[in-house]
Amino acid sequence: MTNESPRVEQAAPTQVSAERLADSPSQGPRRVRAEEATVVILGASGDLTARKLVPALYALARQGYLSERSPVVGVARREKTDQSFREEMREALRVNADDAEWQGFARRLFYRQADLTNADGFTQLKSSLETIEREAGVSGKRVVYMATAPELFLPSIEGLHAAGMVPPPDGDETLRVVLEKPFGHDLNSARELSSRLGRLLAEEQTYRIDHYLGKETVQNILLFRFGNSIFEPLLNRGHVDHVQITVAESQGIERGRGGYYDKAGALRDVLQNHVLQLLCLTAMEPPSYFLAKHIHDERMKVVEALRPGEAGPVDRWAVAGQYTAGRVGGEAARSYREEDRIDPSSRRETYVALSVRIDNWRWAGVPFYLRTGKRLPERATEVAIQFKLPPQHLFTTVECEGDICDLVEARPNTLVFRIQPHEGISLMFSTKRPGMQYQIHPVTMDFTYTNAFHTHLPEAYERLLLDVLRGDSTLFTRSDELEAAWRFVQPVLDAWERPEHQPHEYAAGSGGPAAADTLLSRRGHRWRRPGTR
Ligand code: BG6
Repeated sequence: MTNESPRVEQAAPTQVSAERLADSPSQGPRRVRAEEATVVILGASGDLTARKLVPALYALARQGYLSERSPVVGVARREKTDQSFREEMREALRVNADDAEWQGFARRLFYRQADLTNADGFTQLKSSLETIEREAGVSGKRVVYMATAPELFLPSIEGLHAAGMVPPPDGDETLRVVLEKPFGHDLNSARELSSRLGRLLAEEQTYRIDHYLGKETVQNILLFRFGNSIFEPLLNRGHVDHVQITVAESQGIERGRGGYYDKAGALRDVLQNHVLQLLCLTAMEPPSYFLAKHIHDERMKVVEALRPGEAGPVDRWAVAGQYTAGRVGGEAARSYREEDRIDPSSRRETYVALSVRIDNWRWAGVPFYLRTGKRLPERATEVAIQFKLPPQHLFTTVECEGDICDLVEARPNTLVFRIQPHEGISLMFSTKRPGMQYQIHPVTMDFTYTNAFHTHLPEAYERLLLDVLRGDSTLFTRSDELEAAWRFVQPVLDAWERPEHQPHEYAAGSGGPAAADTLLSRRGHRWRRPGTR
């Protein structure tokens, strides 16, 4: 026996040429490489184009990720000139008309009027695009962004197909089509849409966007889990007591969205997509390679293993809520039924909480509580992993409120991914309170992006549009994942369509309906206040 400590083998640093790094989507380029393509936005008169898409493309262009030659062409039914479209976008981005960078970008912005339900419109669009591309000196690569109403997805892609604008996936020309949500309204409609689109577009030409996957902090869940060695061994049924995933919003129904929202509701709008994506990233196994197929496969296994948290009727594990009038952030807020373009007798849920489990070796028996809602007290999105308590309570502390004091035992360690706001990660653990006794005290180790990096976080749409330009589908949803997510929520959708169903009421500005608290208290748990450290 010697006293030498065991040697830790250090892997030799791998040397990779900068050229190769620039080509590797998963490693991400160290050097900026400008992508050249024509970006066509169908449905360009909608809010998404001005609020998200054009700002993201402008940001990519300014950072050198989008080549100076790439045209961006907005297409919609309304009549507009290139000049009026440029002016509208400039106002939306709040840039000065004489800003030289903007002027350079604006010269590549075009607008073409077309009726997307009419096949002739696409023939004309094709020839317009060819002219624009010839003058810009680009060819062979197009990204078509479907920013239209969902009912126009299929007619538009049929139109592209009929006009000969969908090249074979393995040919010299590239077409990538980005589809915004909602992708279907339920399992059957999503299947139907997938199968009909599948006859027109290959899977590698189809990019189903979930903007949550483009958020820096959401991607960091994977990096934190698989780029460190000390946390991952704890993330399983042996150590985790339960997990809470929250997407809370303080806003109500934005003007103009009522028509869509009253048909969708919180389950379809946020839980079926954004919340389930957060769940997959938190629970999935490490992929063998950090490549799209491997990551999709692992996410898919999680959705396939999802089960209701409790047996019996849906209301044992799913709660629907709808907000009534109240106060949010000190201001009066009207009820959901009084919002713009909402049916005054609507039963649509603005809040949903689910108790679910993941039936696999790693997570068997660990409750996952999911919730999302509008008109909650604050905007806060987070994943909180609560660990089991130590097996024995050796320490306590005295906590007093007024004259009443309690003996308090250890609080559970909690690891929190703060997706927004105050983006970061915190870990709550216990320490000794200074003094002559062994008193236990909870403290937090906190990482925040602003303190650590002093840089602005890229917008989700910047990252996602760049990935489409590069042909990396890692952060997009594959059709089987999407179908599995619909399959899981379908029994809840069915139950909530029944005539006897009524959502539970909660006052705007409160934490949600009381029934959602019962969902957890039945198992000895309670919701965290989202956003707390
Ligand atoms: C969208 C929903 O997908 O996500 C909206 O349609 C919701 O209703 C939004 O407000 C939340 O996204 P974020 O990025 O603001 O958390």
